Amino acid sequence: MGKNIAVVGTGYVGLVTGVALSEIGHNVTCIDIDEKKVARMQQGESPIYEPGLDEIMKRSIEAGRLHFTTKHEEGFQGKEIAYIAVGTPEKEDGTADLRFIEAVAKDIAQNVKQDITVVTKSTVPVGTNDYVLKLVKENLAEDVSVDVVSNPEFLREGSAVYDAFNGDRIVIGASSVHAGDLLEEVNKPFGLPIFRTDVRSAEMIKYAANAFLATKIGFINEVANLCDRLEANVEDVAAGMGMDGRIGAQFLRPGHGYGGSCFPKDTSALVKLADAVGYEFDLLQAVVDGNKRQKLIMVDKAKEVIGSLKGKKIALLGLAFKPNTDDMRESPAIDISRELLLSGAEVTGYDPIAMENAPHFMPEGVDYVPSAEEALQGADAAILVTDWDEFKNLDMSVYENLMAAPLLFDGRNTYSRDVVATSNVEYYSVGRKP
Ligand code: UGA
Repeated sequence: MGKNIAVVGTGYVGLVTGVALSEIGHNVTCIDIDEKKVARMQQGESPIYEPGLDEIMKRSIEAGRLHFTTKHEEGFQGKEIAYIAVGTPEKEDGTADLRFIEAVAKDIAQNVKQDITVVTKSTVPVGTNDYVLKLVKENLAEDVSVDVVSNPEFLREGSAVYDAFNGDRIVIGASSVHAGDLLEEVNKPFGLPIFRTDVRSAEMIKYAANAFLATKIGFINEVANLCDRLEANVEDVAAGMGMDGRIGAQFLRPGHGYGGSCFPKDTSALVKLADAVGYEFDLLQAVVDGNKRQKLIMVDKAKEVIGSLKGKKIALLGLAFKPNTDDMRESPAIDISRELLLSGAEVTGYDPIAMENAPHFMPEGVDYVPSAEEALQGADAAILVTDWDEFKNLDMSVYENLMAAPLLFDGRNTYSRDVVATSNVEYYSVGRKP
């Protein structure tokens, strides 16, 4: 039987969680403070670009299983489970900011009128759920019992809906057997492997998984930089390594650094978390530092090839941190354009989806145009930042015909070297011979 569930926060994690839970038969109310956003979602319109989400939203709303509200009292009414899915942004010092989590915990305490299981979906430092339990208990308006469950999320942006129904595992770390059983029952219809553990280990699994994936990318990036100097081909190296089942082929794609709202934030937070208990996580710190350097490898290469960039017109193809999202957070495009502008270059940017979002994140002084062709027109060089399909399908003749000099720095190894070799494009990529 469907459970009555509240989900607080309708960012990527919260909205996808709420929608997915309603799809498998639960009665879900999503709570958010943003009235405009809530009004849009009530119409079945997703405020984020996420393939497939709108359809399920509309279906669940029509079936009466999915509601949106800004009113907390109404949102928590009759709910036995409350998911926390608000942001944990990075503070200036690299630690996670728990302000929003604390506010929600107090809010739940003030509004629930029956026994409640509080489930944390947000990525939170180890120990946060214990703190949430204490906060809720201290602020309860009614005499009800409270449990907490750490149930971290492993969704990727751009394939969040697919991941919700096809994930590798669901991790449940509960403060009581009863709460763990309840969450297992809630998640059973997904038909995915369920891994039960204690609260702190579940919190750690999330950080450790993201830190490991970031390390894997950082490692192949370093290998790529070495391949570049030793004239080996990193793609073959990665393929040969990945065939070893102990290593695995995924997340061995080199490029100009990982971005997004998760890896940069979570790796820094884990280093800080280690610091706080007197442990130096040097390996992860090296990954964080290496990734900062990696974001500029194409600018460094451009300086090496062109010399001074002063007055040069440089086209940036792709601005989002990865394809199929409009998310600009920690995108290499930001660091790249800042460095180009500092070097005196004129920067023109284009992205298939992130054009509206981009100016809020990019440095002042970047020009935006509505197509790849316009960005390339008369450019002295192009840097391919995000490997959107639109660019993959771009014929080399477009670069040849439009650019002042067909000089391409491909930060994502988007093109096959064989294809480029048949053109007049001067081409540089990551860890592959020119
Ligand atoms: C990541 C994880 O993959 C999810 O499992 C996790 O739930 C999520 O963070 C989170 O903590 O919320 P996401 O940030 O959406 O998901 O994006 P990914 O597809 O993992 O890519 C992250 C970055 O790594 C991108 O900048 C991407 O270009 C880069 N990347 C990825 C590489 O440079 N090489 C690769 O081989 C793979």
